[in-house]
Amino acid sequence: MSGSNHGPISPKCPYLLHGADYYPEQWLEEPEVLAADIRLMKEAGINAVSLGVFAWSSLEPAEGRFTFGWLDRVMDELARAGIWAILATPSGSRPAWMSRAYPEVLRTTADRRRILHGQRQNHCYTSPVYREKVRTINRLLAERYGRHPALILWHLSNEYGGECHCALCQQAFRAWLKRRYGDDLGRLNRAWYASFWSHTFTDWEQIESPAPHGEMLFPALTLDWKRFVTAQTLDFMLAEIAPLREYSPGIPVTTNMMGTYPGLDYRKLAPHVDVASWDSYPRWHGSGEPRHGVGEWDAAGRDWKVAASTAFAHGLMRSLKGGRPFMIMESAPTFSNWHTVHKLKRPGMNLASALLAIAHGSDTVQYFQWRQSPGGFEKMHGAVLDHSGSSATRVFREVAEVGRVLRRLEGVAGAGVPARAAILFDWENRWALEDGSTLSPDGGPDYEATCKRHHDPYWTLGIPIDVIGMDDDLSPYRLLVAPMLAMVRPGVAERLESFVAGGGTLVATHTSGLLDENGLCFRSGRPGPLRRLLGVHVEEADGLYPADCNSLVMQPGNLLGLEGEHAARTVCEIVRAEGAQVLAEFGSDFYRGRPALTVNRFGEGRAFYLACDTDDSFLLAFHRALAVGLPLERALPGELPEGVCAQKRTRGGTDYVFLLNFTPNRAVVDLGAEAFEDALAGGAVRGTLALQAYGAAVLARPASG
Ligand code: GLA
Ligand code: ZN
Repeated sequence: MSGSNHGPISPKCPYLLHGADYYPEQWLEEPEVLAADIRLMKEAGINAVSLGVFAWSSLEPAEGRFTFGWLDRVMDELARAGIWAILATPSGSRPAWMSRAYPEVLRTTADRRRILHGQRQNHCYTSPVYREKVRTINRLLAERYGRHPALILWHLSNEYGGECHCALCQQAFRAWLKRRYGDDLGRLNRAWYASFWSHTFTDWEQIESPAPHGEMLFPALTLDWKRFVTAQTLDFMLAEIAPLREYSPGIPVTTNMMGTYPGLDYRKLAPHVDVASWDSYPRWHGSGEPRHGVGEWDAAGRDWKVAASTAFAHGLMRSLKGGRPFMIMESAPTFSNWHTVHKLKRPGMNLASALLAIAHGSDTVQYFQWRQSPGGFEKMHGAVLDHSGSSATRVFREVAEVGRVLRRLEGVAGAGVPARAAILFDWENRWALEDGSTLSPDGGPDYEATCKRHHDPYWTLGIPIDVIGMDDDLSPYRLLVAPMLAMVRPGVAERLESFVAGGGTLVATHTSGLLDENGLCFRSGRPGPLRRLLGVHVEEADGLYPADCNSLVMQPGNLLGLEGEHAARTVCEIVRAEGAQVLAEFGSDFYRGRPALTVNRFGEGRAFYLACDTDDSFLLAFHRALAVGLPLERALPGELPEGVCAQKRTRGGTDYVFLLNFTPNRAVVDLGAEAFEDALAGGAVRGTLALQAYGAAVLARPASG
């Protein structure tokens, strides 16, 4: 959670950062470009740049021959101009000479094919040679720049991701398994339920990572492999950090994550970095399902849904470090070339999306990238400066406007986001659910989407909500929403019980309490170890085809005050109440009249169970009733127009209320009875506030509570 005052990202700059990825190594033969860049950065209000990402071949053009001169000049010029440097380690893409001299650094794919040199983030995390090469260059960078006046932060590699299946990684996997199972193969066989299909291992060497031409249908193996990939990435990351900590003590470290990226459990990485940061590329103004790629989007093309989905990832990044401000390391100033459609951000969206991040706890807004490259795969990716290098563009003007606004919001840096509600989104649970052996593989509810659908009502109501894992501290919260908590690791049920017994409110849903930490089904009856807390027994679960629909019929006089019939889709569970009170029943089919929504009083608190997947309109009504009943504080007391976000950060006795309109229409916001000061335009504001299409305002008031 989210106290109120935190330290700045670096003590050197106790204000918000506005920056960009900068690749001066692309223009070494044109020294006038550096001079122009620095002048234009000042003009755009850029006060930090990420430097050196992918610069290895410019820093070590041949093995052991280092060329730091150009970077010395850039660092010195930045310092002279008062622009901070976030210096990257170059491990995200290595020089060709290295792949040629040491083939073991090349990654091996799941089909056991060693890749050729090319692309990026394509190394073996285990390779001792690669680790040694990285250690050397990181040490040299730390020795050389650790005390440089421009340096504020180390940026580790770039978007760690993917996996390697080479012989070294197989050995490391086996060693990791030996540690996990106390060198006891019998224990592993039992934990993996290996007697099924005669999968029992009699020698550690028989164990191989999942492969398309080998084992893909062994859920416990796949789950442990994913855990290992995170563990090995972390081990590599720690090896990267060691020389930085040794040779440049006191300089904080981060690595740019990718929001809800499925391949790594970021909660395992987070304790080892000083600041969480991520690269945020929502698909604004889009509709339809993207054909490839990841990121935040809405099939119906509603920008406010995209904003809510992005806010989920912001909340996740904030919660990774217990509420400390995080960083937006990258965002597109206009469009991303890897999006299927290169849609421009509409006027105003640059500021609105920047302030969306700040409102949810980011202390930075940075772009990929400063200057558009004339060549390479990303030559058409949006940038602050286009190929002509001109500042006379709409994008430049909008970026400069963000710069001006962030300067005015200096006091926000370090401010907390006071969340008393949390949503549980856990990577291992996700892996277990996405395994294909757990849910209807075709059309079953999607875990991430379901978490977001339960998150969005709070966002819509202007209520801050953290995004936490099942092992995180629950004590800051009054409400915990835990959608589809299929996996319940040891100790979790007990912690949820004491959270509720102590007065907390828990919302659990269908697909809960199915699996232990190895993905093995509990034999104590669904929802397994949560049965006592939820006061229900789930006898069966009915998968619904897309055209099927049941209904959830609210019971008269239920304690939430909800009425009517609501759609039940995708999955409906046949539940017997074992002490829980029934709030809604199913309306049709052979389980008509069986509980669809229940609440169980447990100690001082209550545990709700929603036994089906349902529509957004019901989720909004349901969560609104909970939030009003508790109550949870809202950024503004009145109703918000659809698509307007209201979020607050609090620091030093001041609440900063961010009002952002994620619609293409003008919106009028009811401010209630309170008086505010307009933190951007100055002057007093009360009554109502009009926001233009994609308009933004930040209002200040003395902190409540
Ligand atoms: C990622 C990478 C960047 C760049 C951008 C383009 O986030 O970190 O190097 O490729 O995407 O959107
Ligand atoms: Zn490997």
